[in-house]
Amino acid sequence: MKILDFGSLNLDHVYSVDNFVRPGETISSLKMEDFCGGKGLNQSIALARAGAEVYHAGCIGKDGQVLADRLKEAGVNTKFVKVLDCPTGHAIIQINAKGQNCIILYGGANQEITEDFAKEVIDQFSKGDLILLQNEINNLPFIMNYAYEKGLQIALNPSPLNDKLLACPLDKVAYFIMNEIEGSEIVGGEEDPDKVIEKMKEKFPNAKVVLTLGKDGAKYFDGEKVYFHGIYDVKRVDSTAAGDTFTGYFLACIGEGLSPEVALEKASKASSLAVHIKGASNSIPTRAEVDTTDIKLDPRFL
Ligand code: RIB
Repeated sequence: MKILDFGSLNLDHVYSVDNFVRPGETISSLKMEDFCGGKGLNQSIALARAGAEVYHAGCIGKDGQVLADRLKEAGVNTKFVKVLDCPTGHAIIQINAKGQNCIILYGGANQEITEDFAKEVIDQFSKGDLILLQNEINNLPFIMNYAYEKGLQIALNPSPLNDKLLACPLDKVAYFIMNEIEGSEIVGGEEDPDKVIEKMKEKFPNAKVVLTLGKDGAKYFDGEKVYFHGIYDVKRVDSTAAGDTFTGYFLACIGEGLSPEVALEKASKASSLAVHIKGASNSIPTRAEVDTTDIKLDPRFL
């Protein structure tokens, strides 16, 4: 099974601050660093580092070559990364002393995906291959409908969640990988994760769903089974790309034929390792690190 990640590529400008800037306030940052990011790029790198055969499709400007190079270095096939005559997408990220983040996106080339380009790329894949999508590119409904018609399985990380995402043909999604806030919005505002699970089952009976619950771990469920996995006990330095790492690892393990239970374990461990390091794509661990690093589950889950 080939995996196509049709997604964003961003230049991440990361500002370390004690506390997030508040309305009307001006603050000085402690440090500014640039990283390669974008949910699409991060998830492609996580897939590749987990061992999957992954193709990335998306658009950058002439100022974004570093992003295509980073994908290539990680083992991602970049023949569907197109260079356009417009600025590359970027993100302005604040990281506070607790390792939490706030992100502002500028779409740039990520919002210039044409239907013709999407068709040209998707036509290179066949029934049974998997397409992974997030919500940082334009033309998502077209991409979803066309990929579905061609028999591709659709995996969706519905992030960032907004009305445009909710208007997509979500009934065509085979795998949802999302956090509790996104889950709650998709089912219409339910906050209790168990109730979100029940409502997702009613609304999308054919989908397999992973709900990540932050420090409370992650749950997988399909029509029949529910599995849970806790987080690991690591120092939280920067949560940027932790969700992307989780998504890439989970899907790579499923593609490899591992059970959802094992995929959940590997994805949880990989994202805990990512939280331990500053930055986005650079914080994603290799498969060898995930398989051999000896970290313990958070004591709450022992
Ligand atoms: O999920 C983290 C990513 O979100 C960052 O790399 C940033 O570019 C935004 O897309």
